[in-house]
Parts: sequence; structure tokens; C-alpha cells
Amino acid sequence: MKKNTILAVLMAMAAMTAQAQTYLDTNAPLEERVKDALSRMTTHEKVQILHAQSKFTSAGVPRLGIRQLNMDDGPHGVREELEWNTWNPAKWTNDYIVAFPSLTCLAATWNTEMSTAYGNAVSEEFAFRGKDIMLGPGVNIQRTPLNGRAFEYMGEDPFLAGEMVVPYIKAAQANGIACCLKHFVLNDQETDRFGINVNVSDRAMREIYLRPFQKAVEKAHVYTIMGSYNKWKGVHCCHNDELLNGILKKEWNWDGALVSDWGGATNGLEAATGGLDIEMGTYTDGKTKESEFGYEMYYLGNPFEQLLKDGKVPMSVLDEKASRVLRTIFRTSMNPKKVIGNQCSEAHYDVCRQIGEEGIVLLKNEKNILPLDPSKWTKYHNVLVVGENATRSLTQGGGSSELKTLRDISPLDALKKQYEQMVDYAQGYYSGKAMYDHVDKLDEAKQAELKAQALEAAKGADLIIFIGGLNKNTHQDCENGDRESYDLPYGQNELISELAKIQKNIVVVTFGGNPYSMPWLKEVAGVVHCWYLGSESGTALVNVLSGEVCPSGKLPVTFAEKYEDYPYVQYGKEAYPGVNKEVYYKEGIFVGYRHFSSNNVKPLFPFGFGLSYTKFAYGKPTTTMEGDNIVVQTTITNTGKVAGKEIAQVYLSAPKSNVERPVKELKGFGKTKLLQPGESETLRITIPKEELNYWDETKHGWARITGPYTFNVGASVDDIRGKVEVDN
Ligand code: GLC
Repeated sequence: MKKNTILAVLMAMAAMTAQAQTYLDTNAPLEERVKDALSRMTTHEKVQILHAQSKFTSAGVPRLGIRQLNMDDGPHGVREELEWNTWNPAKWTNDYIVAFPSLTCLAATWNTEMSTAYGNAVSEEFAFRGKDIMLGPGVNIQRTPLNGRAFEYMGEDPFLAGEMVVPYIKAAQANGIACCLKHFVLNDQETDRFGINVNVSDRAMREIYLRPFQKAVEKAHVYTIMGSYNKWKGVHCCHNDELLNGILKKEWNWDGALVSDWGGATNGLEAATGGLDIEMGTYTDGKTKESEFGYEMYYLGNPFEQLLKDGKVPMSVLDEKASRVLRTIFRTSMNPKKVIGNQCSEAHYDVCRQIGEEGIVLLKNEKNILPLDPSKWTKYHNVLVVGENATRSLTQGGGSSELKTLRDISPLDALKKQYEQMVDYAQGYYSGKAMYDHVDKLDEAKQAELKAQALEAAKGADLIIFIGGLNKNTHQDCENGDRESYDLPYGQNELISELAKIQKNIVVVTFGGNPYSMPWLKEVAGVVHCWYLGSESGTALVNVLSGEVCPSGKLPVTFAEKYEDYPYVQYGKEAYPGVNKEVYYKEGIFVGYRHFSSNNVKPLFPFGFGLSYTKFAYGKPTTTMEGDNIVVQTTITNTGKVAGKEIAQVYLSAPKSNVERPVKELKGFGKTKLLQPGESETLRITIPKEELNYWDETKHGWARITGPYTFNVGASVDDIRGKVEVDN
């Protein structure tokens, strides 16, 4: 064979080989891998990767060696393995994991380093379990304290939620695990979640509800986002063209894959053209029943392929969807930098405990009853712990975020370990089976007996630690239903009051994702709120109660004195939970503290509030302009007797603005390192000028702040320690 011919054959083979390599070449640029893979796929193969092939996986392209995507819940840890095609547990024995604290607890740390640590650790557990997409975190806004899933989210303020979620996402995705930020958007209640249509002003939509998602897209480049079940402008968010193609993909220039919530796709043509990229969880015959291997019947399966064949949807739409899915595959399951990770390592338990310790909020500490310093503990001769949450696992239940933990240290176990068995226990009340037992189904006689036992035991105690609050039962902090009352359930209010009458040395410790009423507040000496602390629950709590750790957490939500004080309540059922599946966010941008501060409604505990075992002085704040940023500086000094951390907050006031604005809007915060008594730290809080913009509904765009404005620097929204005026 002539030399030229041999050369030509070799070049052709090299070209073929080279051609065959690009999408598999882990050093090739991402977009080249995507383009090359797409060019090799058949139409049917492109359609196949757009929908589920099992409960929690979507298909790859086996013929080309392109891997599937393995997904799993949830934001606080890796869900136990379920069967391939059902919601039933697979009953594995190697899927026990670390349950990390709830995201509301993370928000309460106001510490972005904790977010980074959280995202890194939890994604290492996802990687070790062979997952590619973690279905979380969540940044829906806590506009109502009754939202059953608020514990999965990061509070009432879009700035805090956005700032805290970005490091979590960056750290997780650096490990080759895609976050799936949820639920996009306006899934701010569980009542009627599958069909409620949310009516909200453009300004509130932009400044409050979209804002944390926009930050995650623009600053963390989140790889996937989960569409929410509800509707906006009458169209389901999982395939809402204006929301997904208009805002998310075009205006925000997002290149990721939009994943439906499970069963969130409800219409074939909308699913095809409304911005949905991966359809998950749809029942295979139109949502009435499940069937084996019916996944090709999904809206984005055969029906979509038929629409393409009939020319009703252009092939460009298919290629756009498939490219986004391939991009996700090459960023995760076929990412050479994806970590192996680990599961239940001591490093993960340390992160879990640290986040819990920094997220716990000390709300009341009369006569310094806290800390319960072990060295001073001897003054108490009989400590009684009362309450079901002292022993109940709060990692089970709650819905899709439920976790199967290897370690789940209860508060009672930790107290007994710390205080050498000087602790008695009385359950005080019961709540039934996690997730399923409704409060109305409980046995009143049993409740009464448990209460009587606790009151009897209290007579011999010289210190009572009540450990209660909410839990993960249905209509508590649990998916697919909202709370039915702002009060604590299971008769806790009456029990606490009666215990306090017997022993005034009483500290109330509560768990829960939402604010609640405290009619007994004046009757108790101390109150500590813990959110949900995960696997190290007891250890984190006792480290704070004992003074081992000085509490530094601050509220990411407003605790109102009474339910009626929340802004939407005045507008009636239309504003929550809605009427005829229509809900109207009539409070507009005045969500949470924005309402309380602007209308002089005094909360029980304000947004950003949290006590310490020490005290801090704030130096006069100053500002400097640095390019497009304004830097606010303030020096924090520990003027107390023990080491502690302080969170300084910066609130914008712009009374001379040409549009109505809340009297205070959080625009910056900083947390000091652990300051020793007498030690100071100057915090530099950088505020991009664009953070001061408001949404101009006439221009349908962001507009710069107008008029002179003030930065209020303080320890909470209602505890301002210094102001600095800024001319626009
Ligand atoms: C649920 C939840 C979602 C979860 C998904 C998979 O309905 O709304 O947050 O990730 O289904 O379990």
C-alpha cells in the first residue's frame, strides 16, 4: 500500500479517534464536550436524557458511555436509599449518614464560613453515596410562620438567604456535586402547594422572592434548579415560559438544567416549550398511578418526541434541553474533579456540631441563669428535664428531607453525660409518630397523665430544663402541610406555665423551623431556640447551655408577639393560605421585619436578635467608597467577661427615596472571630452599590437608589448602635 494511502488512512483513523475522544476527554473545554456529545446522539437518545428513568435518576447514553444522573434529597444530608421505582426504602445497611442542621439554623449563624463548611461536608457525603445532584438547598422566603417547610429554608430576608446560600453552593459544586436550588419560585407555603397560583407584585417578586435565586445563579453559578409545584401568573413554575426561559435562562443568562419537582410537570406542550429540562417524578400515566418502566410516557418522553416528529416543536428546543443536561453530566458524574468524599467522618460531625453551636439563639437569660457552668452546677441538687424533644429524634419525619442517621445524640443523653447523671426526666407530653400522627389523633388521657407526672417531678427539682417546641410531624415542620396554629402544640404552653409556677428556675429550650408564640415568656428565666441541629443535636445544645460555647446565633426570622402581627394577616385568607387556590401577597415587599419596622409593630424578638454570655460595644461606623462598592467599617469590642462572637448588621434607610421603601433593609453583615474579653476587631462590610437598587415597575428593571441614605449598624434590626449618612 502506497505511503500516501497509509498516511491518509492513519490520519482518518486519528481523526476518528480524536473525534471519538472529545466528549470523553476530561481535559477538553466543557462546551466542546457538550457539542461533540450532542452531535453523536440520536433524537431518541436526546429525548431520553430529559426525563426520569427511575425515582431518582435520569438516563445517560449507554451507547456513548455517557453516564446517568443520580439525584437525591435533601438539603440537610443524603436521604436513605429508596427502591429504584417506588418511594419504599431499599433497606440498605450502608446508607446511614450525618444529618446536618436545618438550613434555618445555618442562616442563624450569619457566618458564611459555616456555609462553606456545610456545602463541602454535605456534598462529600453525596459523592460517597454515588450521587451527582443534591436536591437542595432551599431559599424560599419565610413570609408566614406557618409554612411547613420553612425549616428547609433560610429565613425571611432575601439578602441573608442569598449571602448564606452562595458559599454553600460554591463549596458543594467544587466537589463535583450539583446543587439543585429549590423551589423555584414562590413555594412559600405547603397548603395547596400543587396548584396554588401566587399573585405577587413585580417589585416583591424581584426584590424578595427571586433575589436569593438570582444571587445563586450570578454568584455561585448553581448547576441545576428545581421548579416549584405552584403556579405564577396561572402557569406551573416547572414549565413557566416567562419565569424559566424569560427570566432565568435569558435575563440571568443561566446555563444549567431546570429539574421539575417530583410530579411538577403537568402539561405536555408547556413541558416541551416552557423551559423544563429534566422531568422527574411524574406518574407514568398522567399522574393517577405508577407503573413499572413507564418512564417513556413522561411528558418529555415519547409525547415530546412525537411533537418533534410532527414539527410542532423545533429540534433546536430539543438540542437546547439536551445540551443543558449534558453540561450537568460533564460537571458532575463525568467530572474528573468529582471527589470520592466520605460518610460519617468525625470531620463531618465536627462541622455539624459547629454549625449547630453557632446557629443556636439565646433569646432570654434572666439573672444569668445560663450558662449552667458545670463548676457551679453543684448548687443544683436535682435537675429535671421535661419535654419530648429531649429524647425524640428530629431527623426523622418532615417529608423528603427525612434522614437515616448513624449518630443522633439526644439532648437528654448529652445532658446526662455533661452533668453526671444529676438529671431526671419526665416526658411531659407526646406527639405520636413522626410525619404521620396528627395532633388531633392523640390520646388526651395519655397527655394528661404525662403532664401530671412532670408536674409531680417538678416539685422536687431546683432547676427545670424544658425541651420542646415543634417537630417533624404532619402540620408541624413537615412537607405537604402547614402548621394550623402559631402556638406550640401538644399542650406545651400550659405545661410550661404550670412548671414555672412550681420552679421559677426554668430554662425553655425549643426546636423548630418557625417562630411561635410564648405566652409564658415572663414566667421563665431563660429561652434558647435551636432550629434543628441534626446528628450532634445534644452535644451542640449542651455545649451552649454549659458555656463551653458562647451563643452567637441571631434570628433569621421575626418572632411576633401574636400571629395577627404578621403583615399578611390583615388582608385575610386571600393573602394566606389563599381562596380557591389563588393567594395574593398583599404585603408586597413588606415581608417580616420590613413590615414590623415600617409600621412600628413591636415584635416579641426582632429579626437579627440574639443574646450572648458576654457584651459587645460598637465603634462609630464609617464608610469608604471602593469602586462599585461601599465599605462600612465598625470596630467591635468584647466588653464582657467571656470570649464570644458578634454579628454586626447593616440596614439601609432611604427616607428621601423617590419610591416607597421599608424603613430598614438588610444590606450587609459581618461576624467577628472569637473575641477574648477586652479584644476588638474592625469589621469591613462590603456592600456592592447594586444591592441598594430597587425594582422600578414602570421601567420593568432595576433602578439606582435615589436621594441620600443612611446605613444603620447594629446588633439587630431594632438595636442600632451607630449610623452613617451617605450622599447618593
Ligand atoms: C418533593 C419535594 C422536593 C423533593 C422531591 C423529591 O415533593 O417538594 O423538595 O426534592 O419531591 O423527593
